[in-house]
Amino acid sequence: MAPTRGYTLTWLGHGTFHLVTRDGRVVLLDPWVEGNPACPNEHKSFEKIDVITISHGHGDHMADAVTLGLKFKPTIVCNYEIHLFLQKKGVTTTSPMNKGGTQEAGGVRFTMVHAVHSSGIEDGGQVTYGGEPCGFVVTLEDGTRIYHAGDTGVHSDMALIGEIYRPDVALLPIGDHFTMSPREAAYAARMLGARVIVPAHHGTFPVLSGTPDALKAELKTLGVAAEVVPLRPGEALS
Ligand code: NI
Ligand code: MN
Repeated sequence: MAPTRGYTLTWLGHGTFHLVTRDGRVVLLDPWVEGNPACPNEHKSFEKIDVITISHGHGDHMADAVTLGLKFKPTIVCNYEIHLFLQKKGVTTTSPMNKGGTQEAGGVRFTMVHAVHSSGIEDGGQVTYGGEPCGFVVTLEDGTRIYHAGDTGVHSDMALIGEIYRPDVALLPIGDHFTMSPREAAYAARMLGARVIVPAHHGTFPVLSGTPDALKAELKTLGVAAEVVPLRPGEALS
């Protein structure tokens, strides 16, 4: 993995990203590696994890939160309801928050922002209330801002996210069906104003049919100059 302006951001497939900051802090965004068919085997084990963020309660975004939480004792940044769920499972290192707030963990700042989705937690055949879905604006030590949208439809609060936080990089779902398709993601990109868009939540399953090429075409139609950087699972932003 080559360093990128002091940080390394690797897509692990689906909605999961692995971030190593300039100061060597390891952040795992939406921990789904073990059962993630898109995650390369060599990326399923970790030497350390300092922080985990969870965007919502669906298994494809937090299935490994308990295992990795118990093993590495990372600060787990999530909403209050997911915090309660993880505490019940014996994970003691959660640090709950809610939308609009910012907290620091491992020298990195996490701002919880709005997302349009659902957040039920499937557990033992029951659905536990998982609070509201969210996205995160991650502010690195050098001020670089990365917006991880989580699972979401396009929504007009993205204009505020763009105006208030001015993200440099936006990690946007484009797969369609459960989230935005490339068409909506292009409108999201226009509101966010990020220079770089990394497509996510596509290709894992046939139903997630949106493609980075389709996103590029939609951006061109809208006249949005953002650069689409399609990664392969296991590949880092460079
Ligand atoms: Ni979801
Ligand atoms: Mn999902």
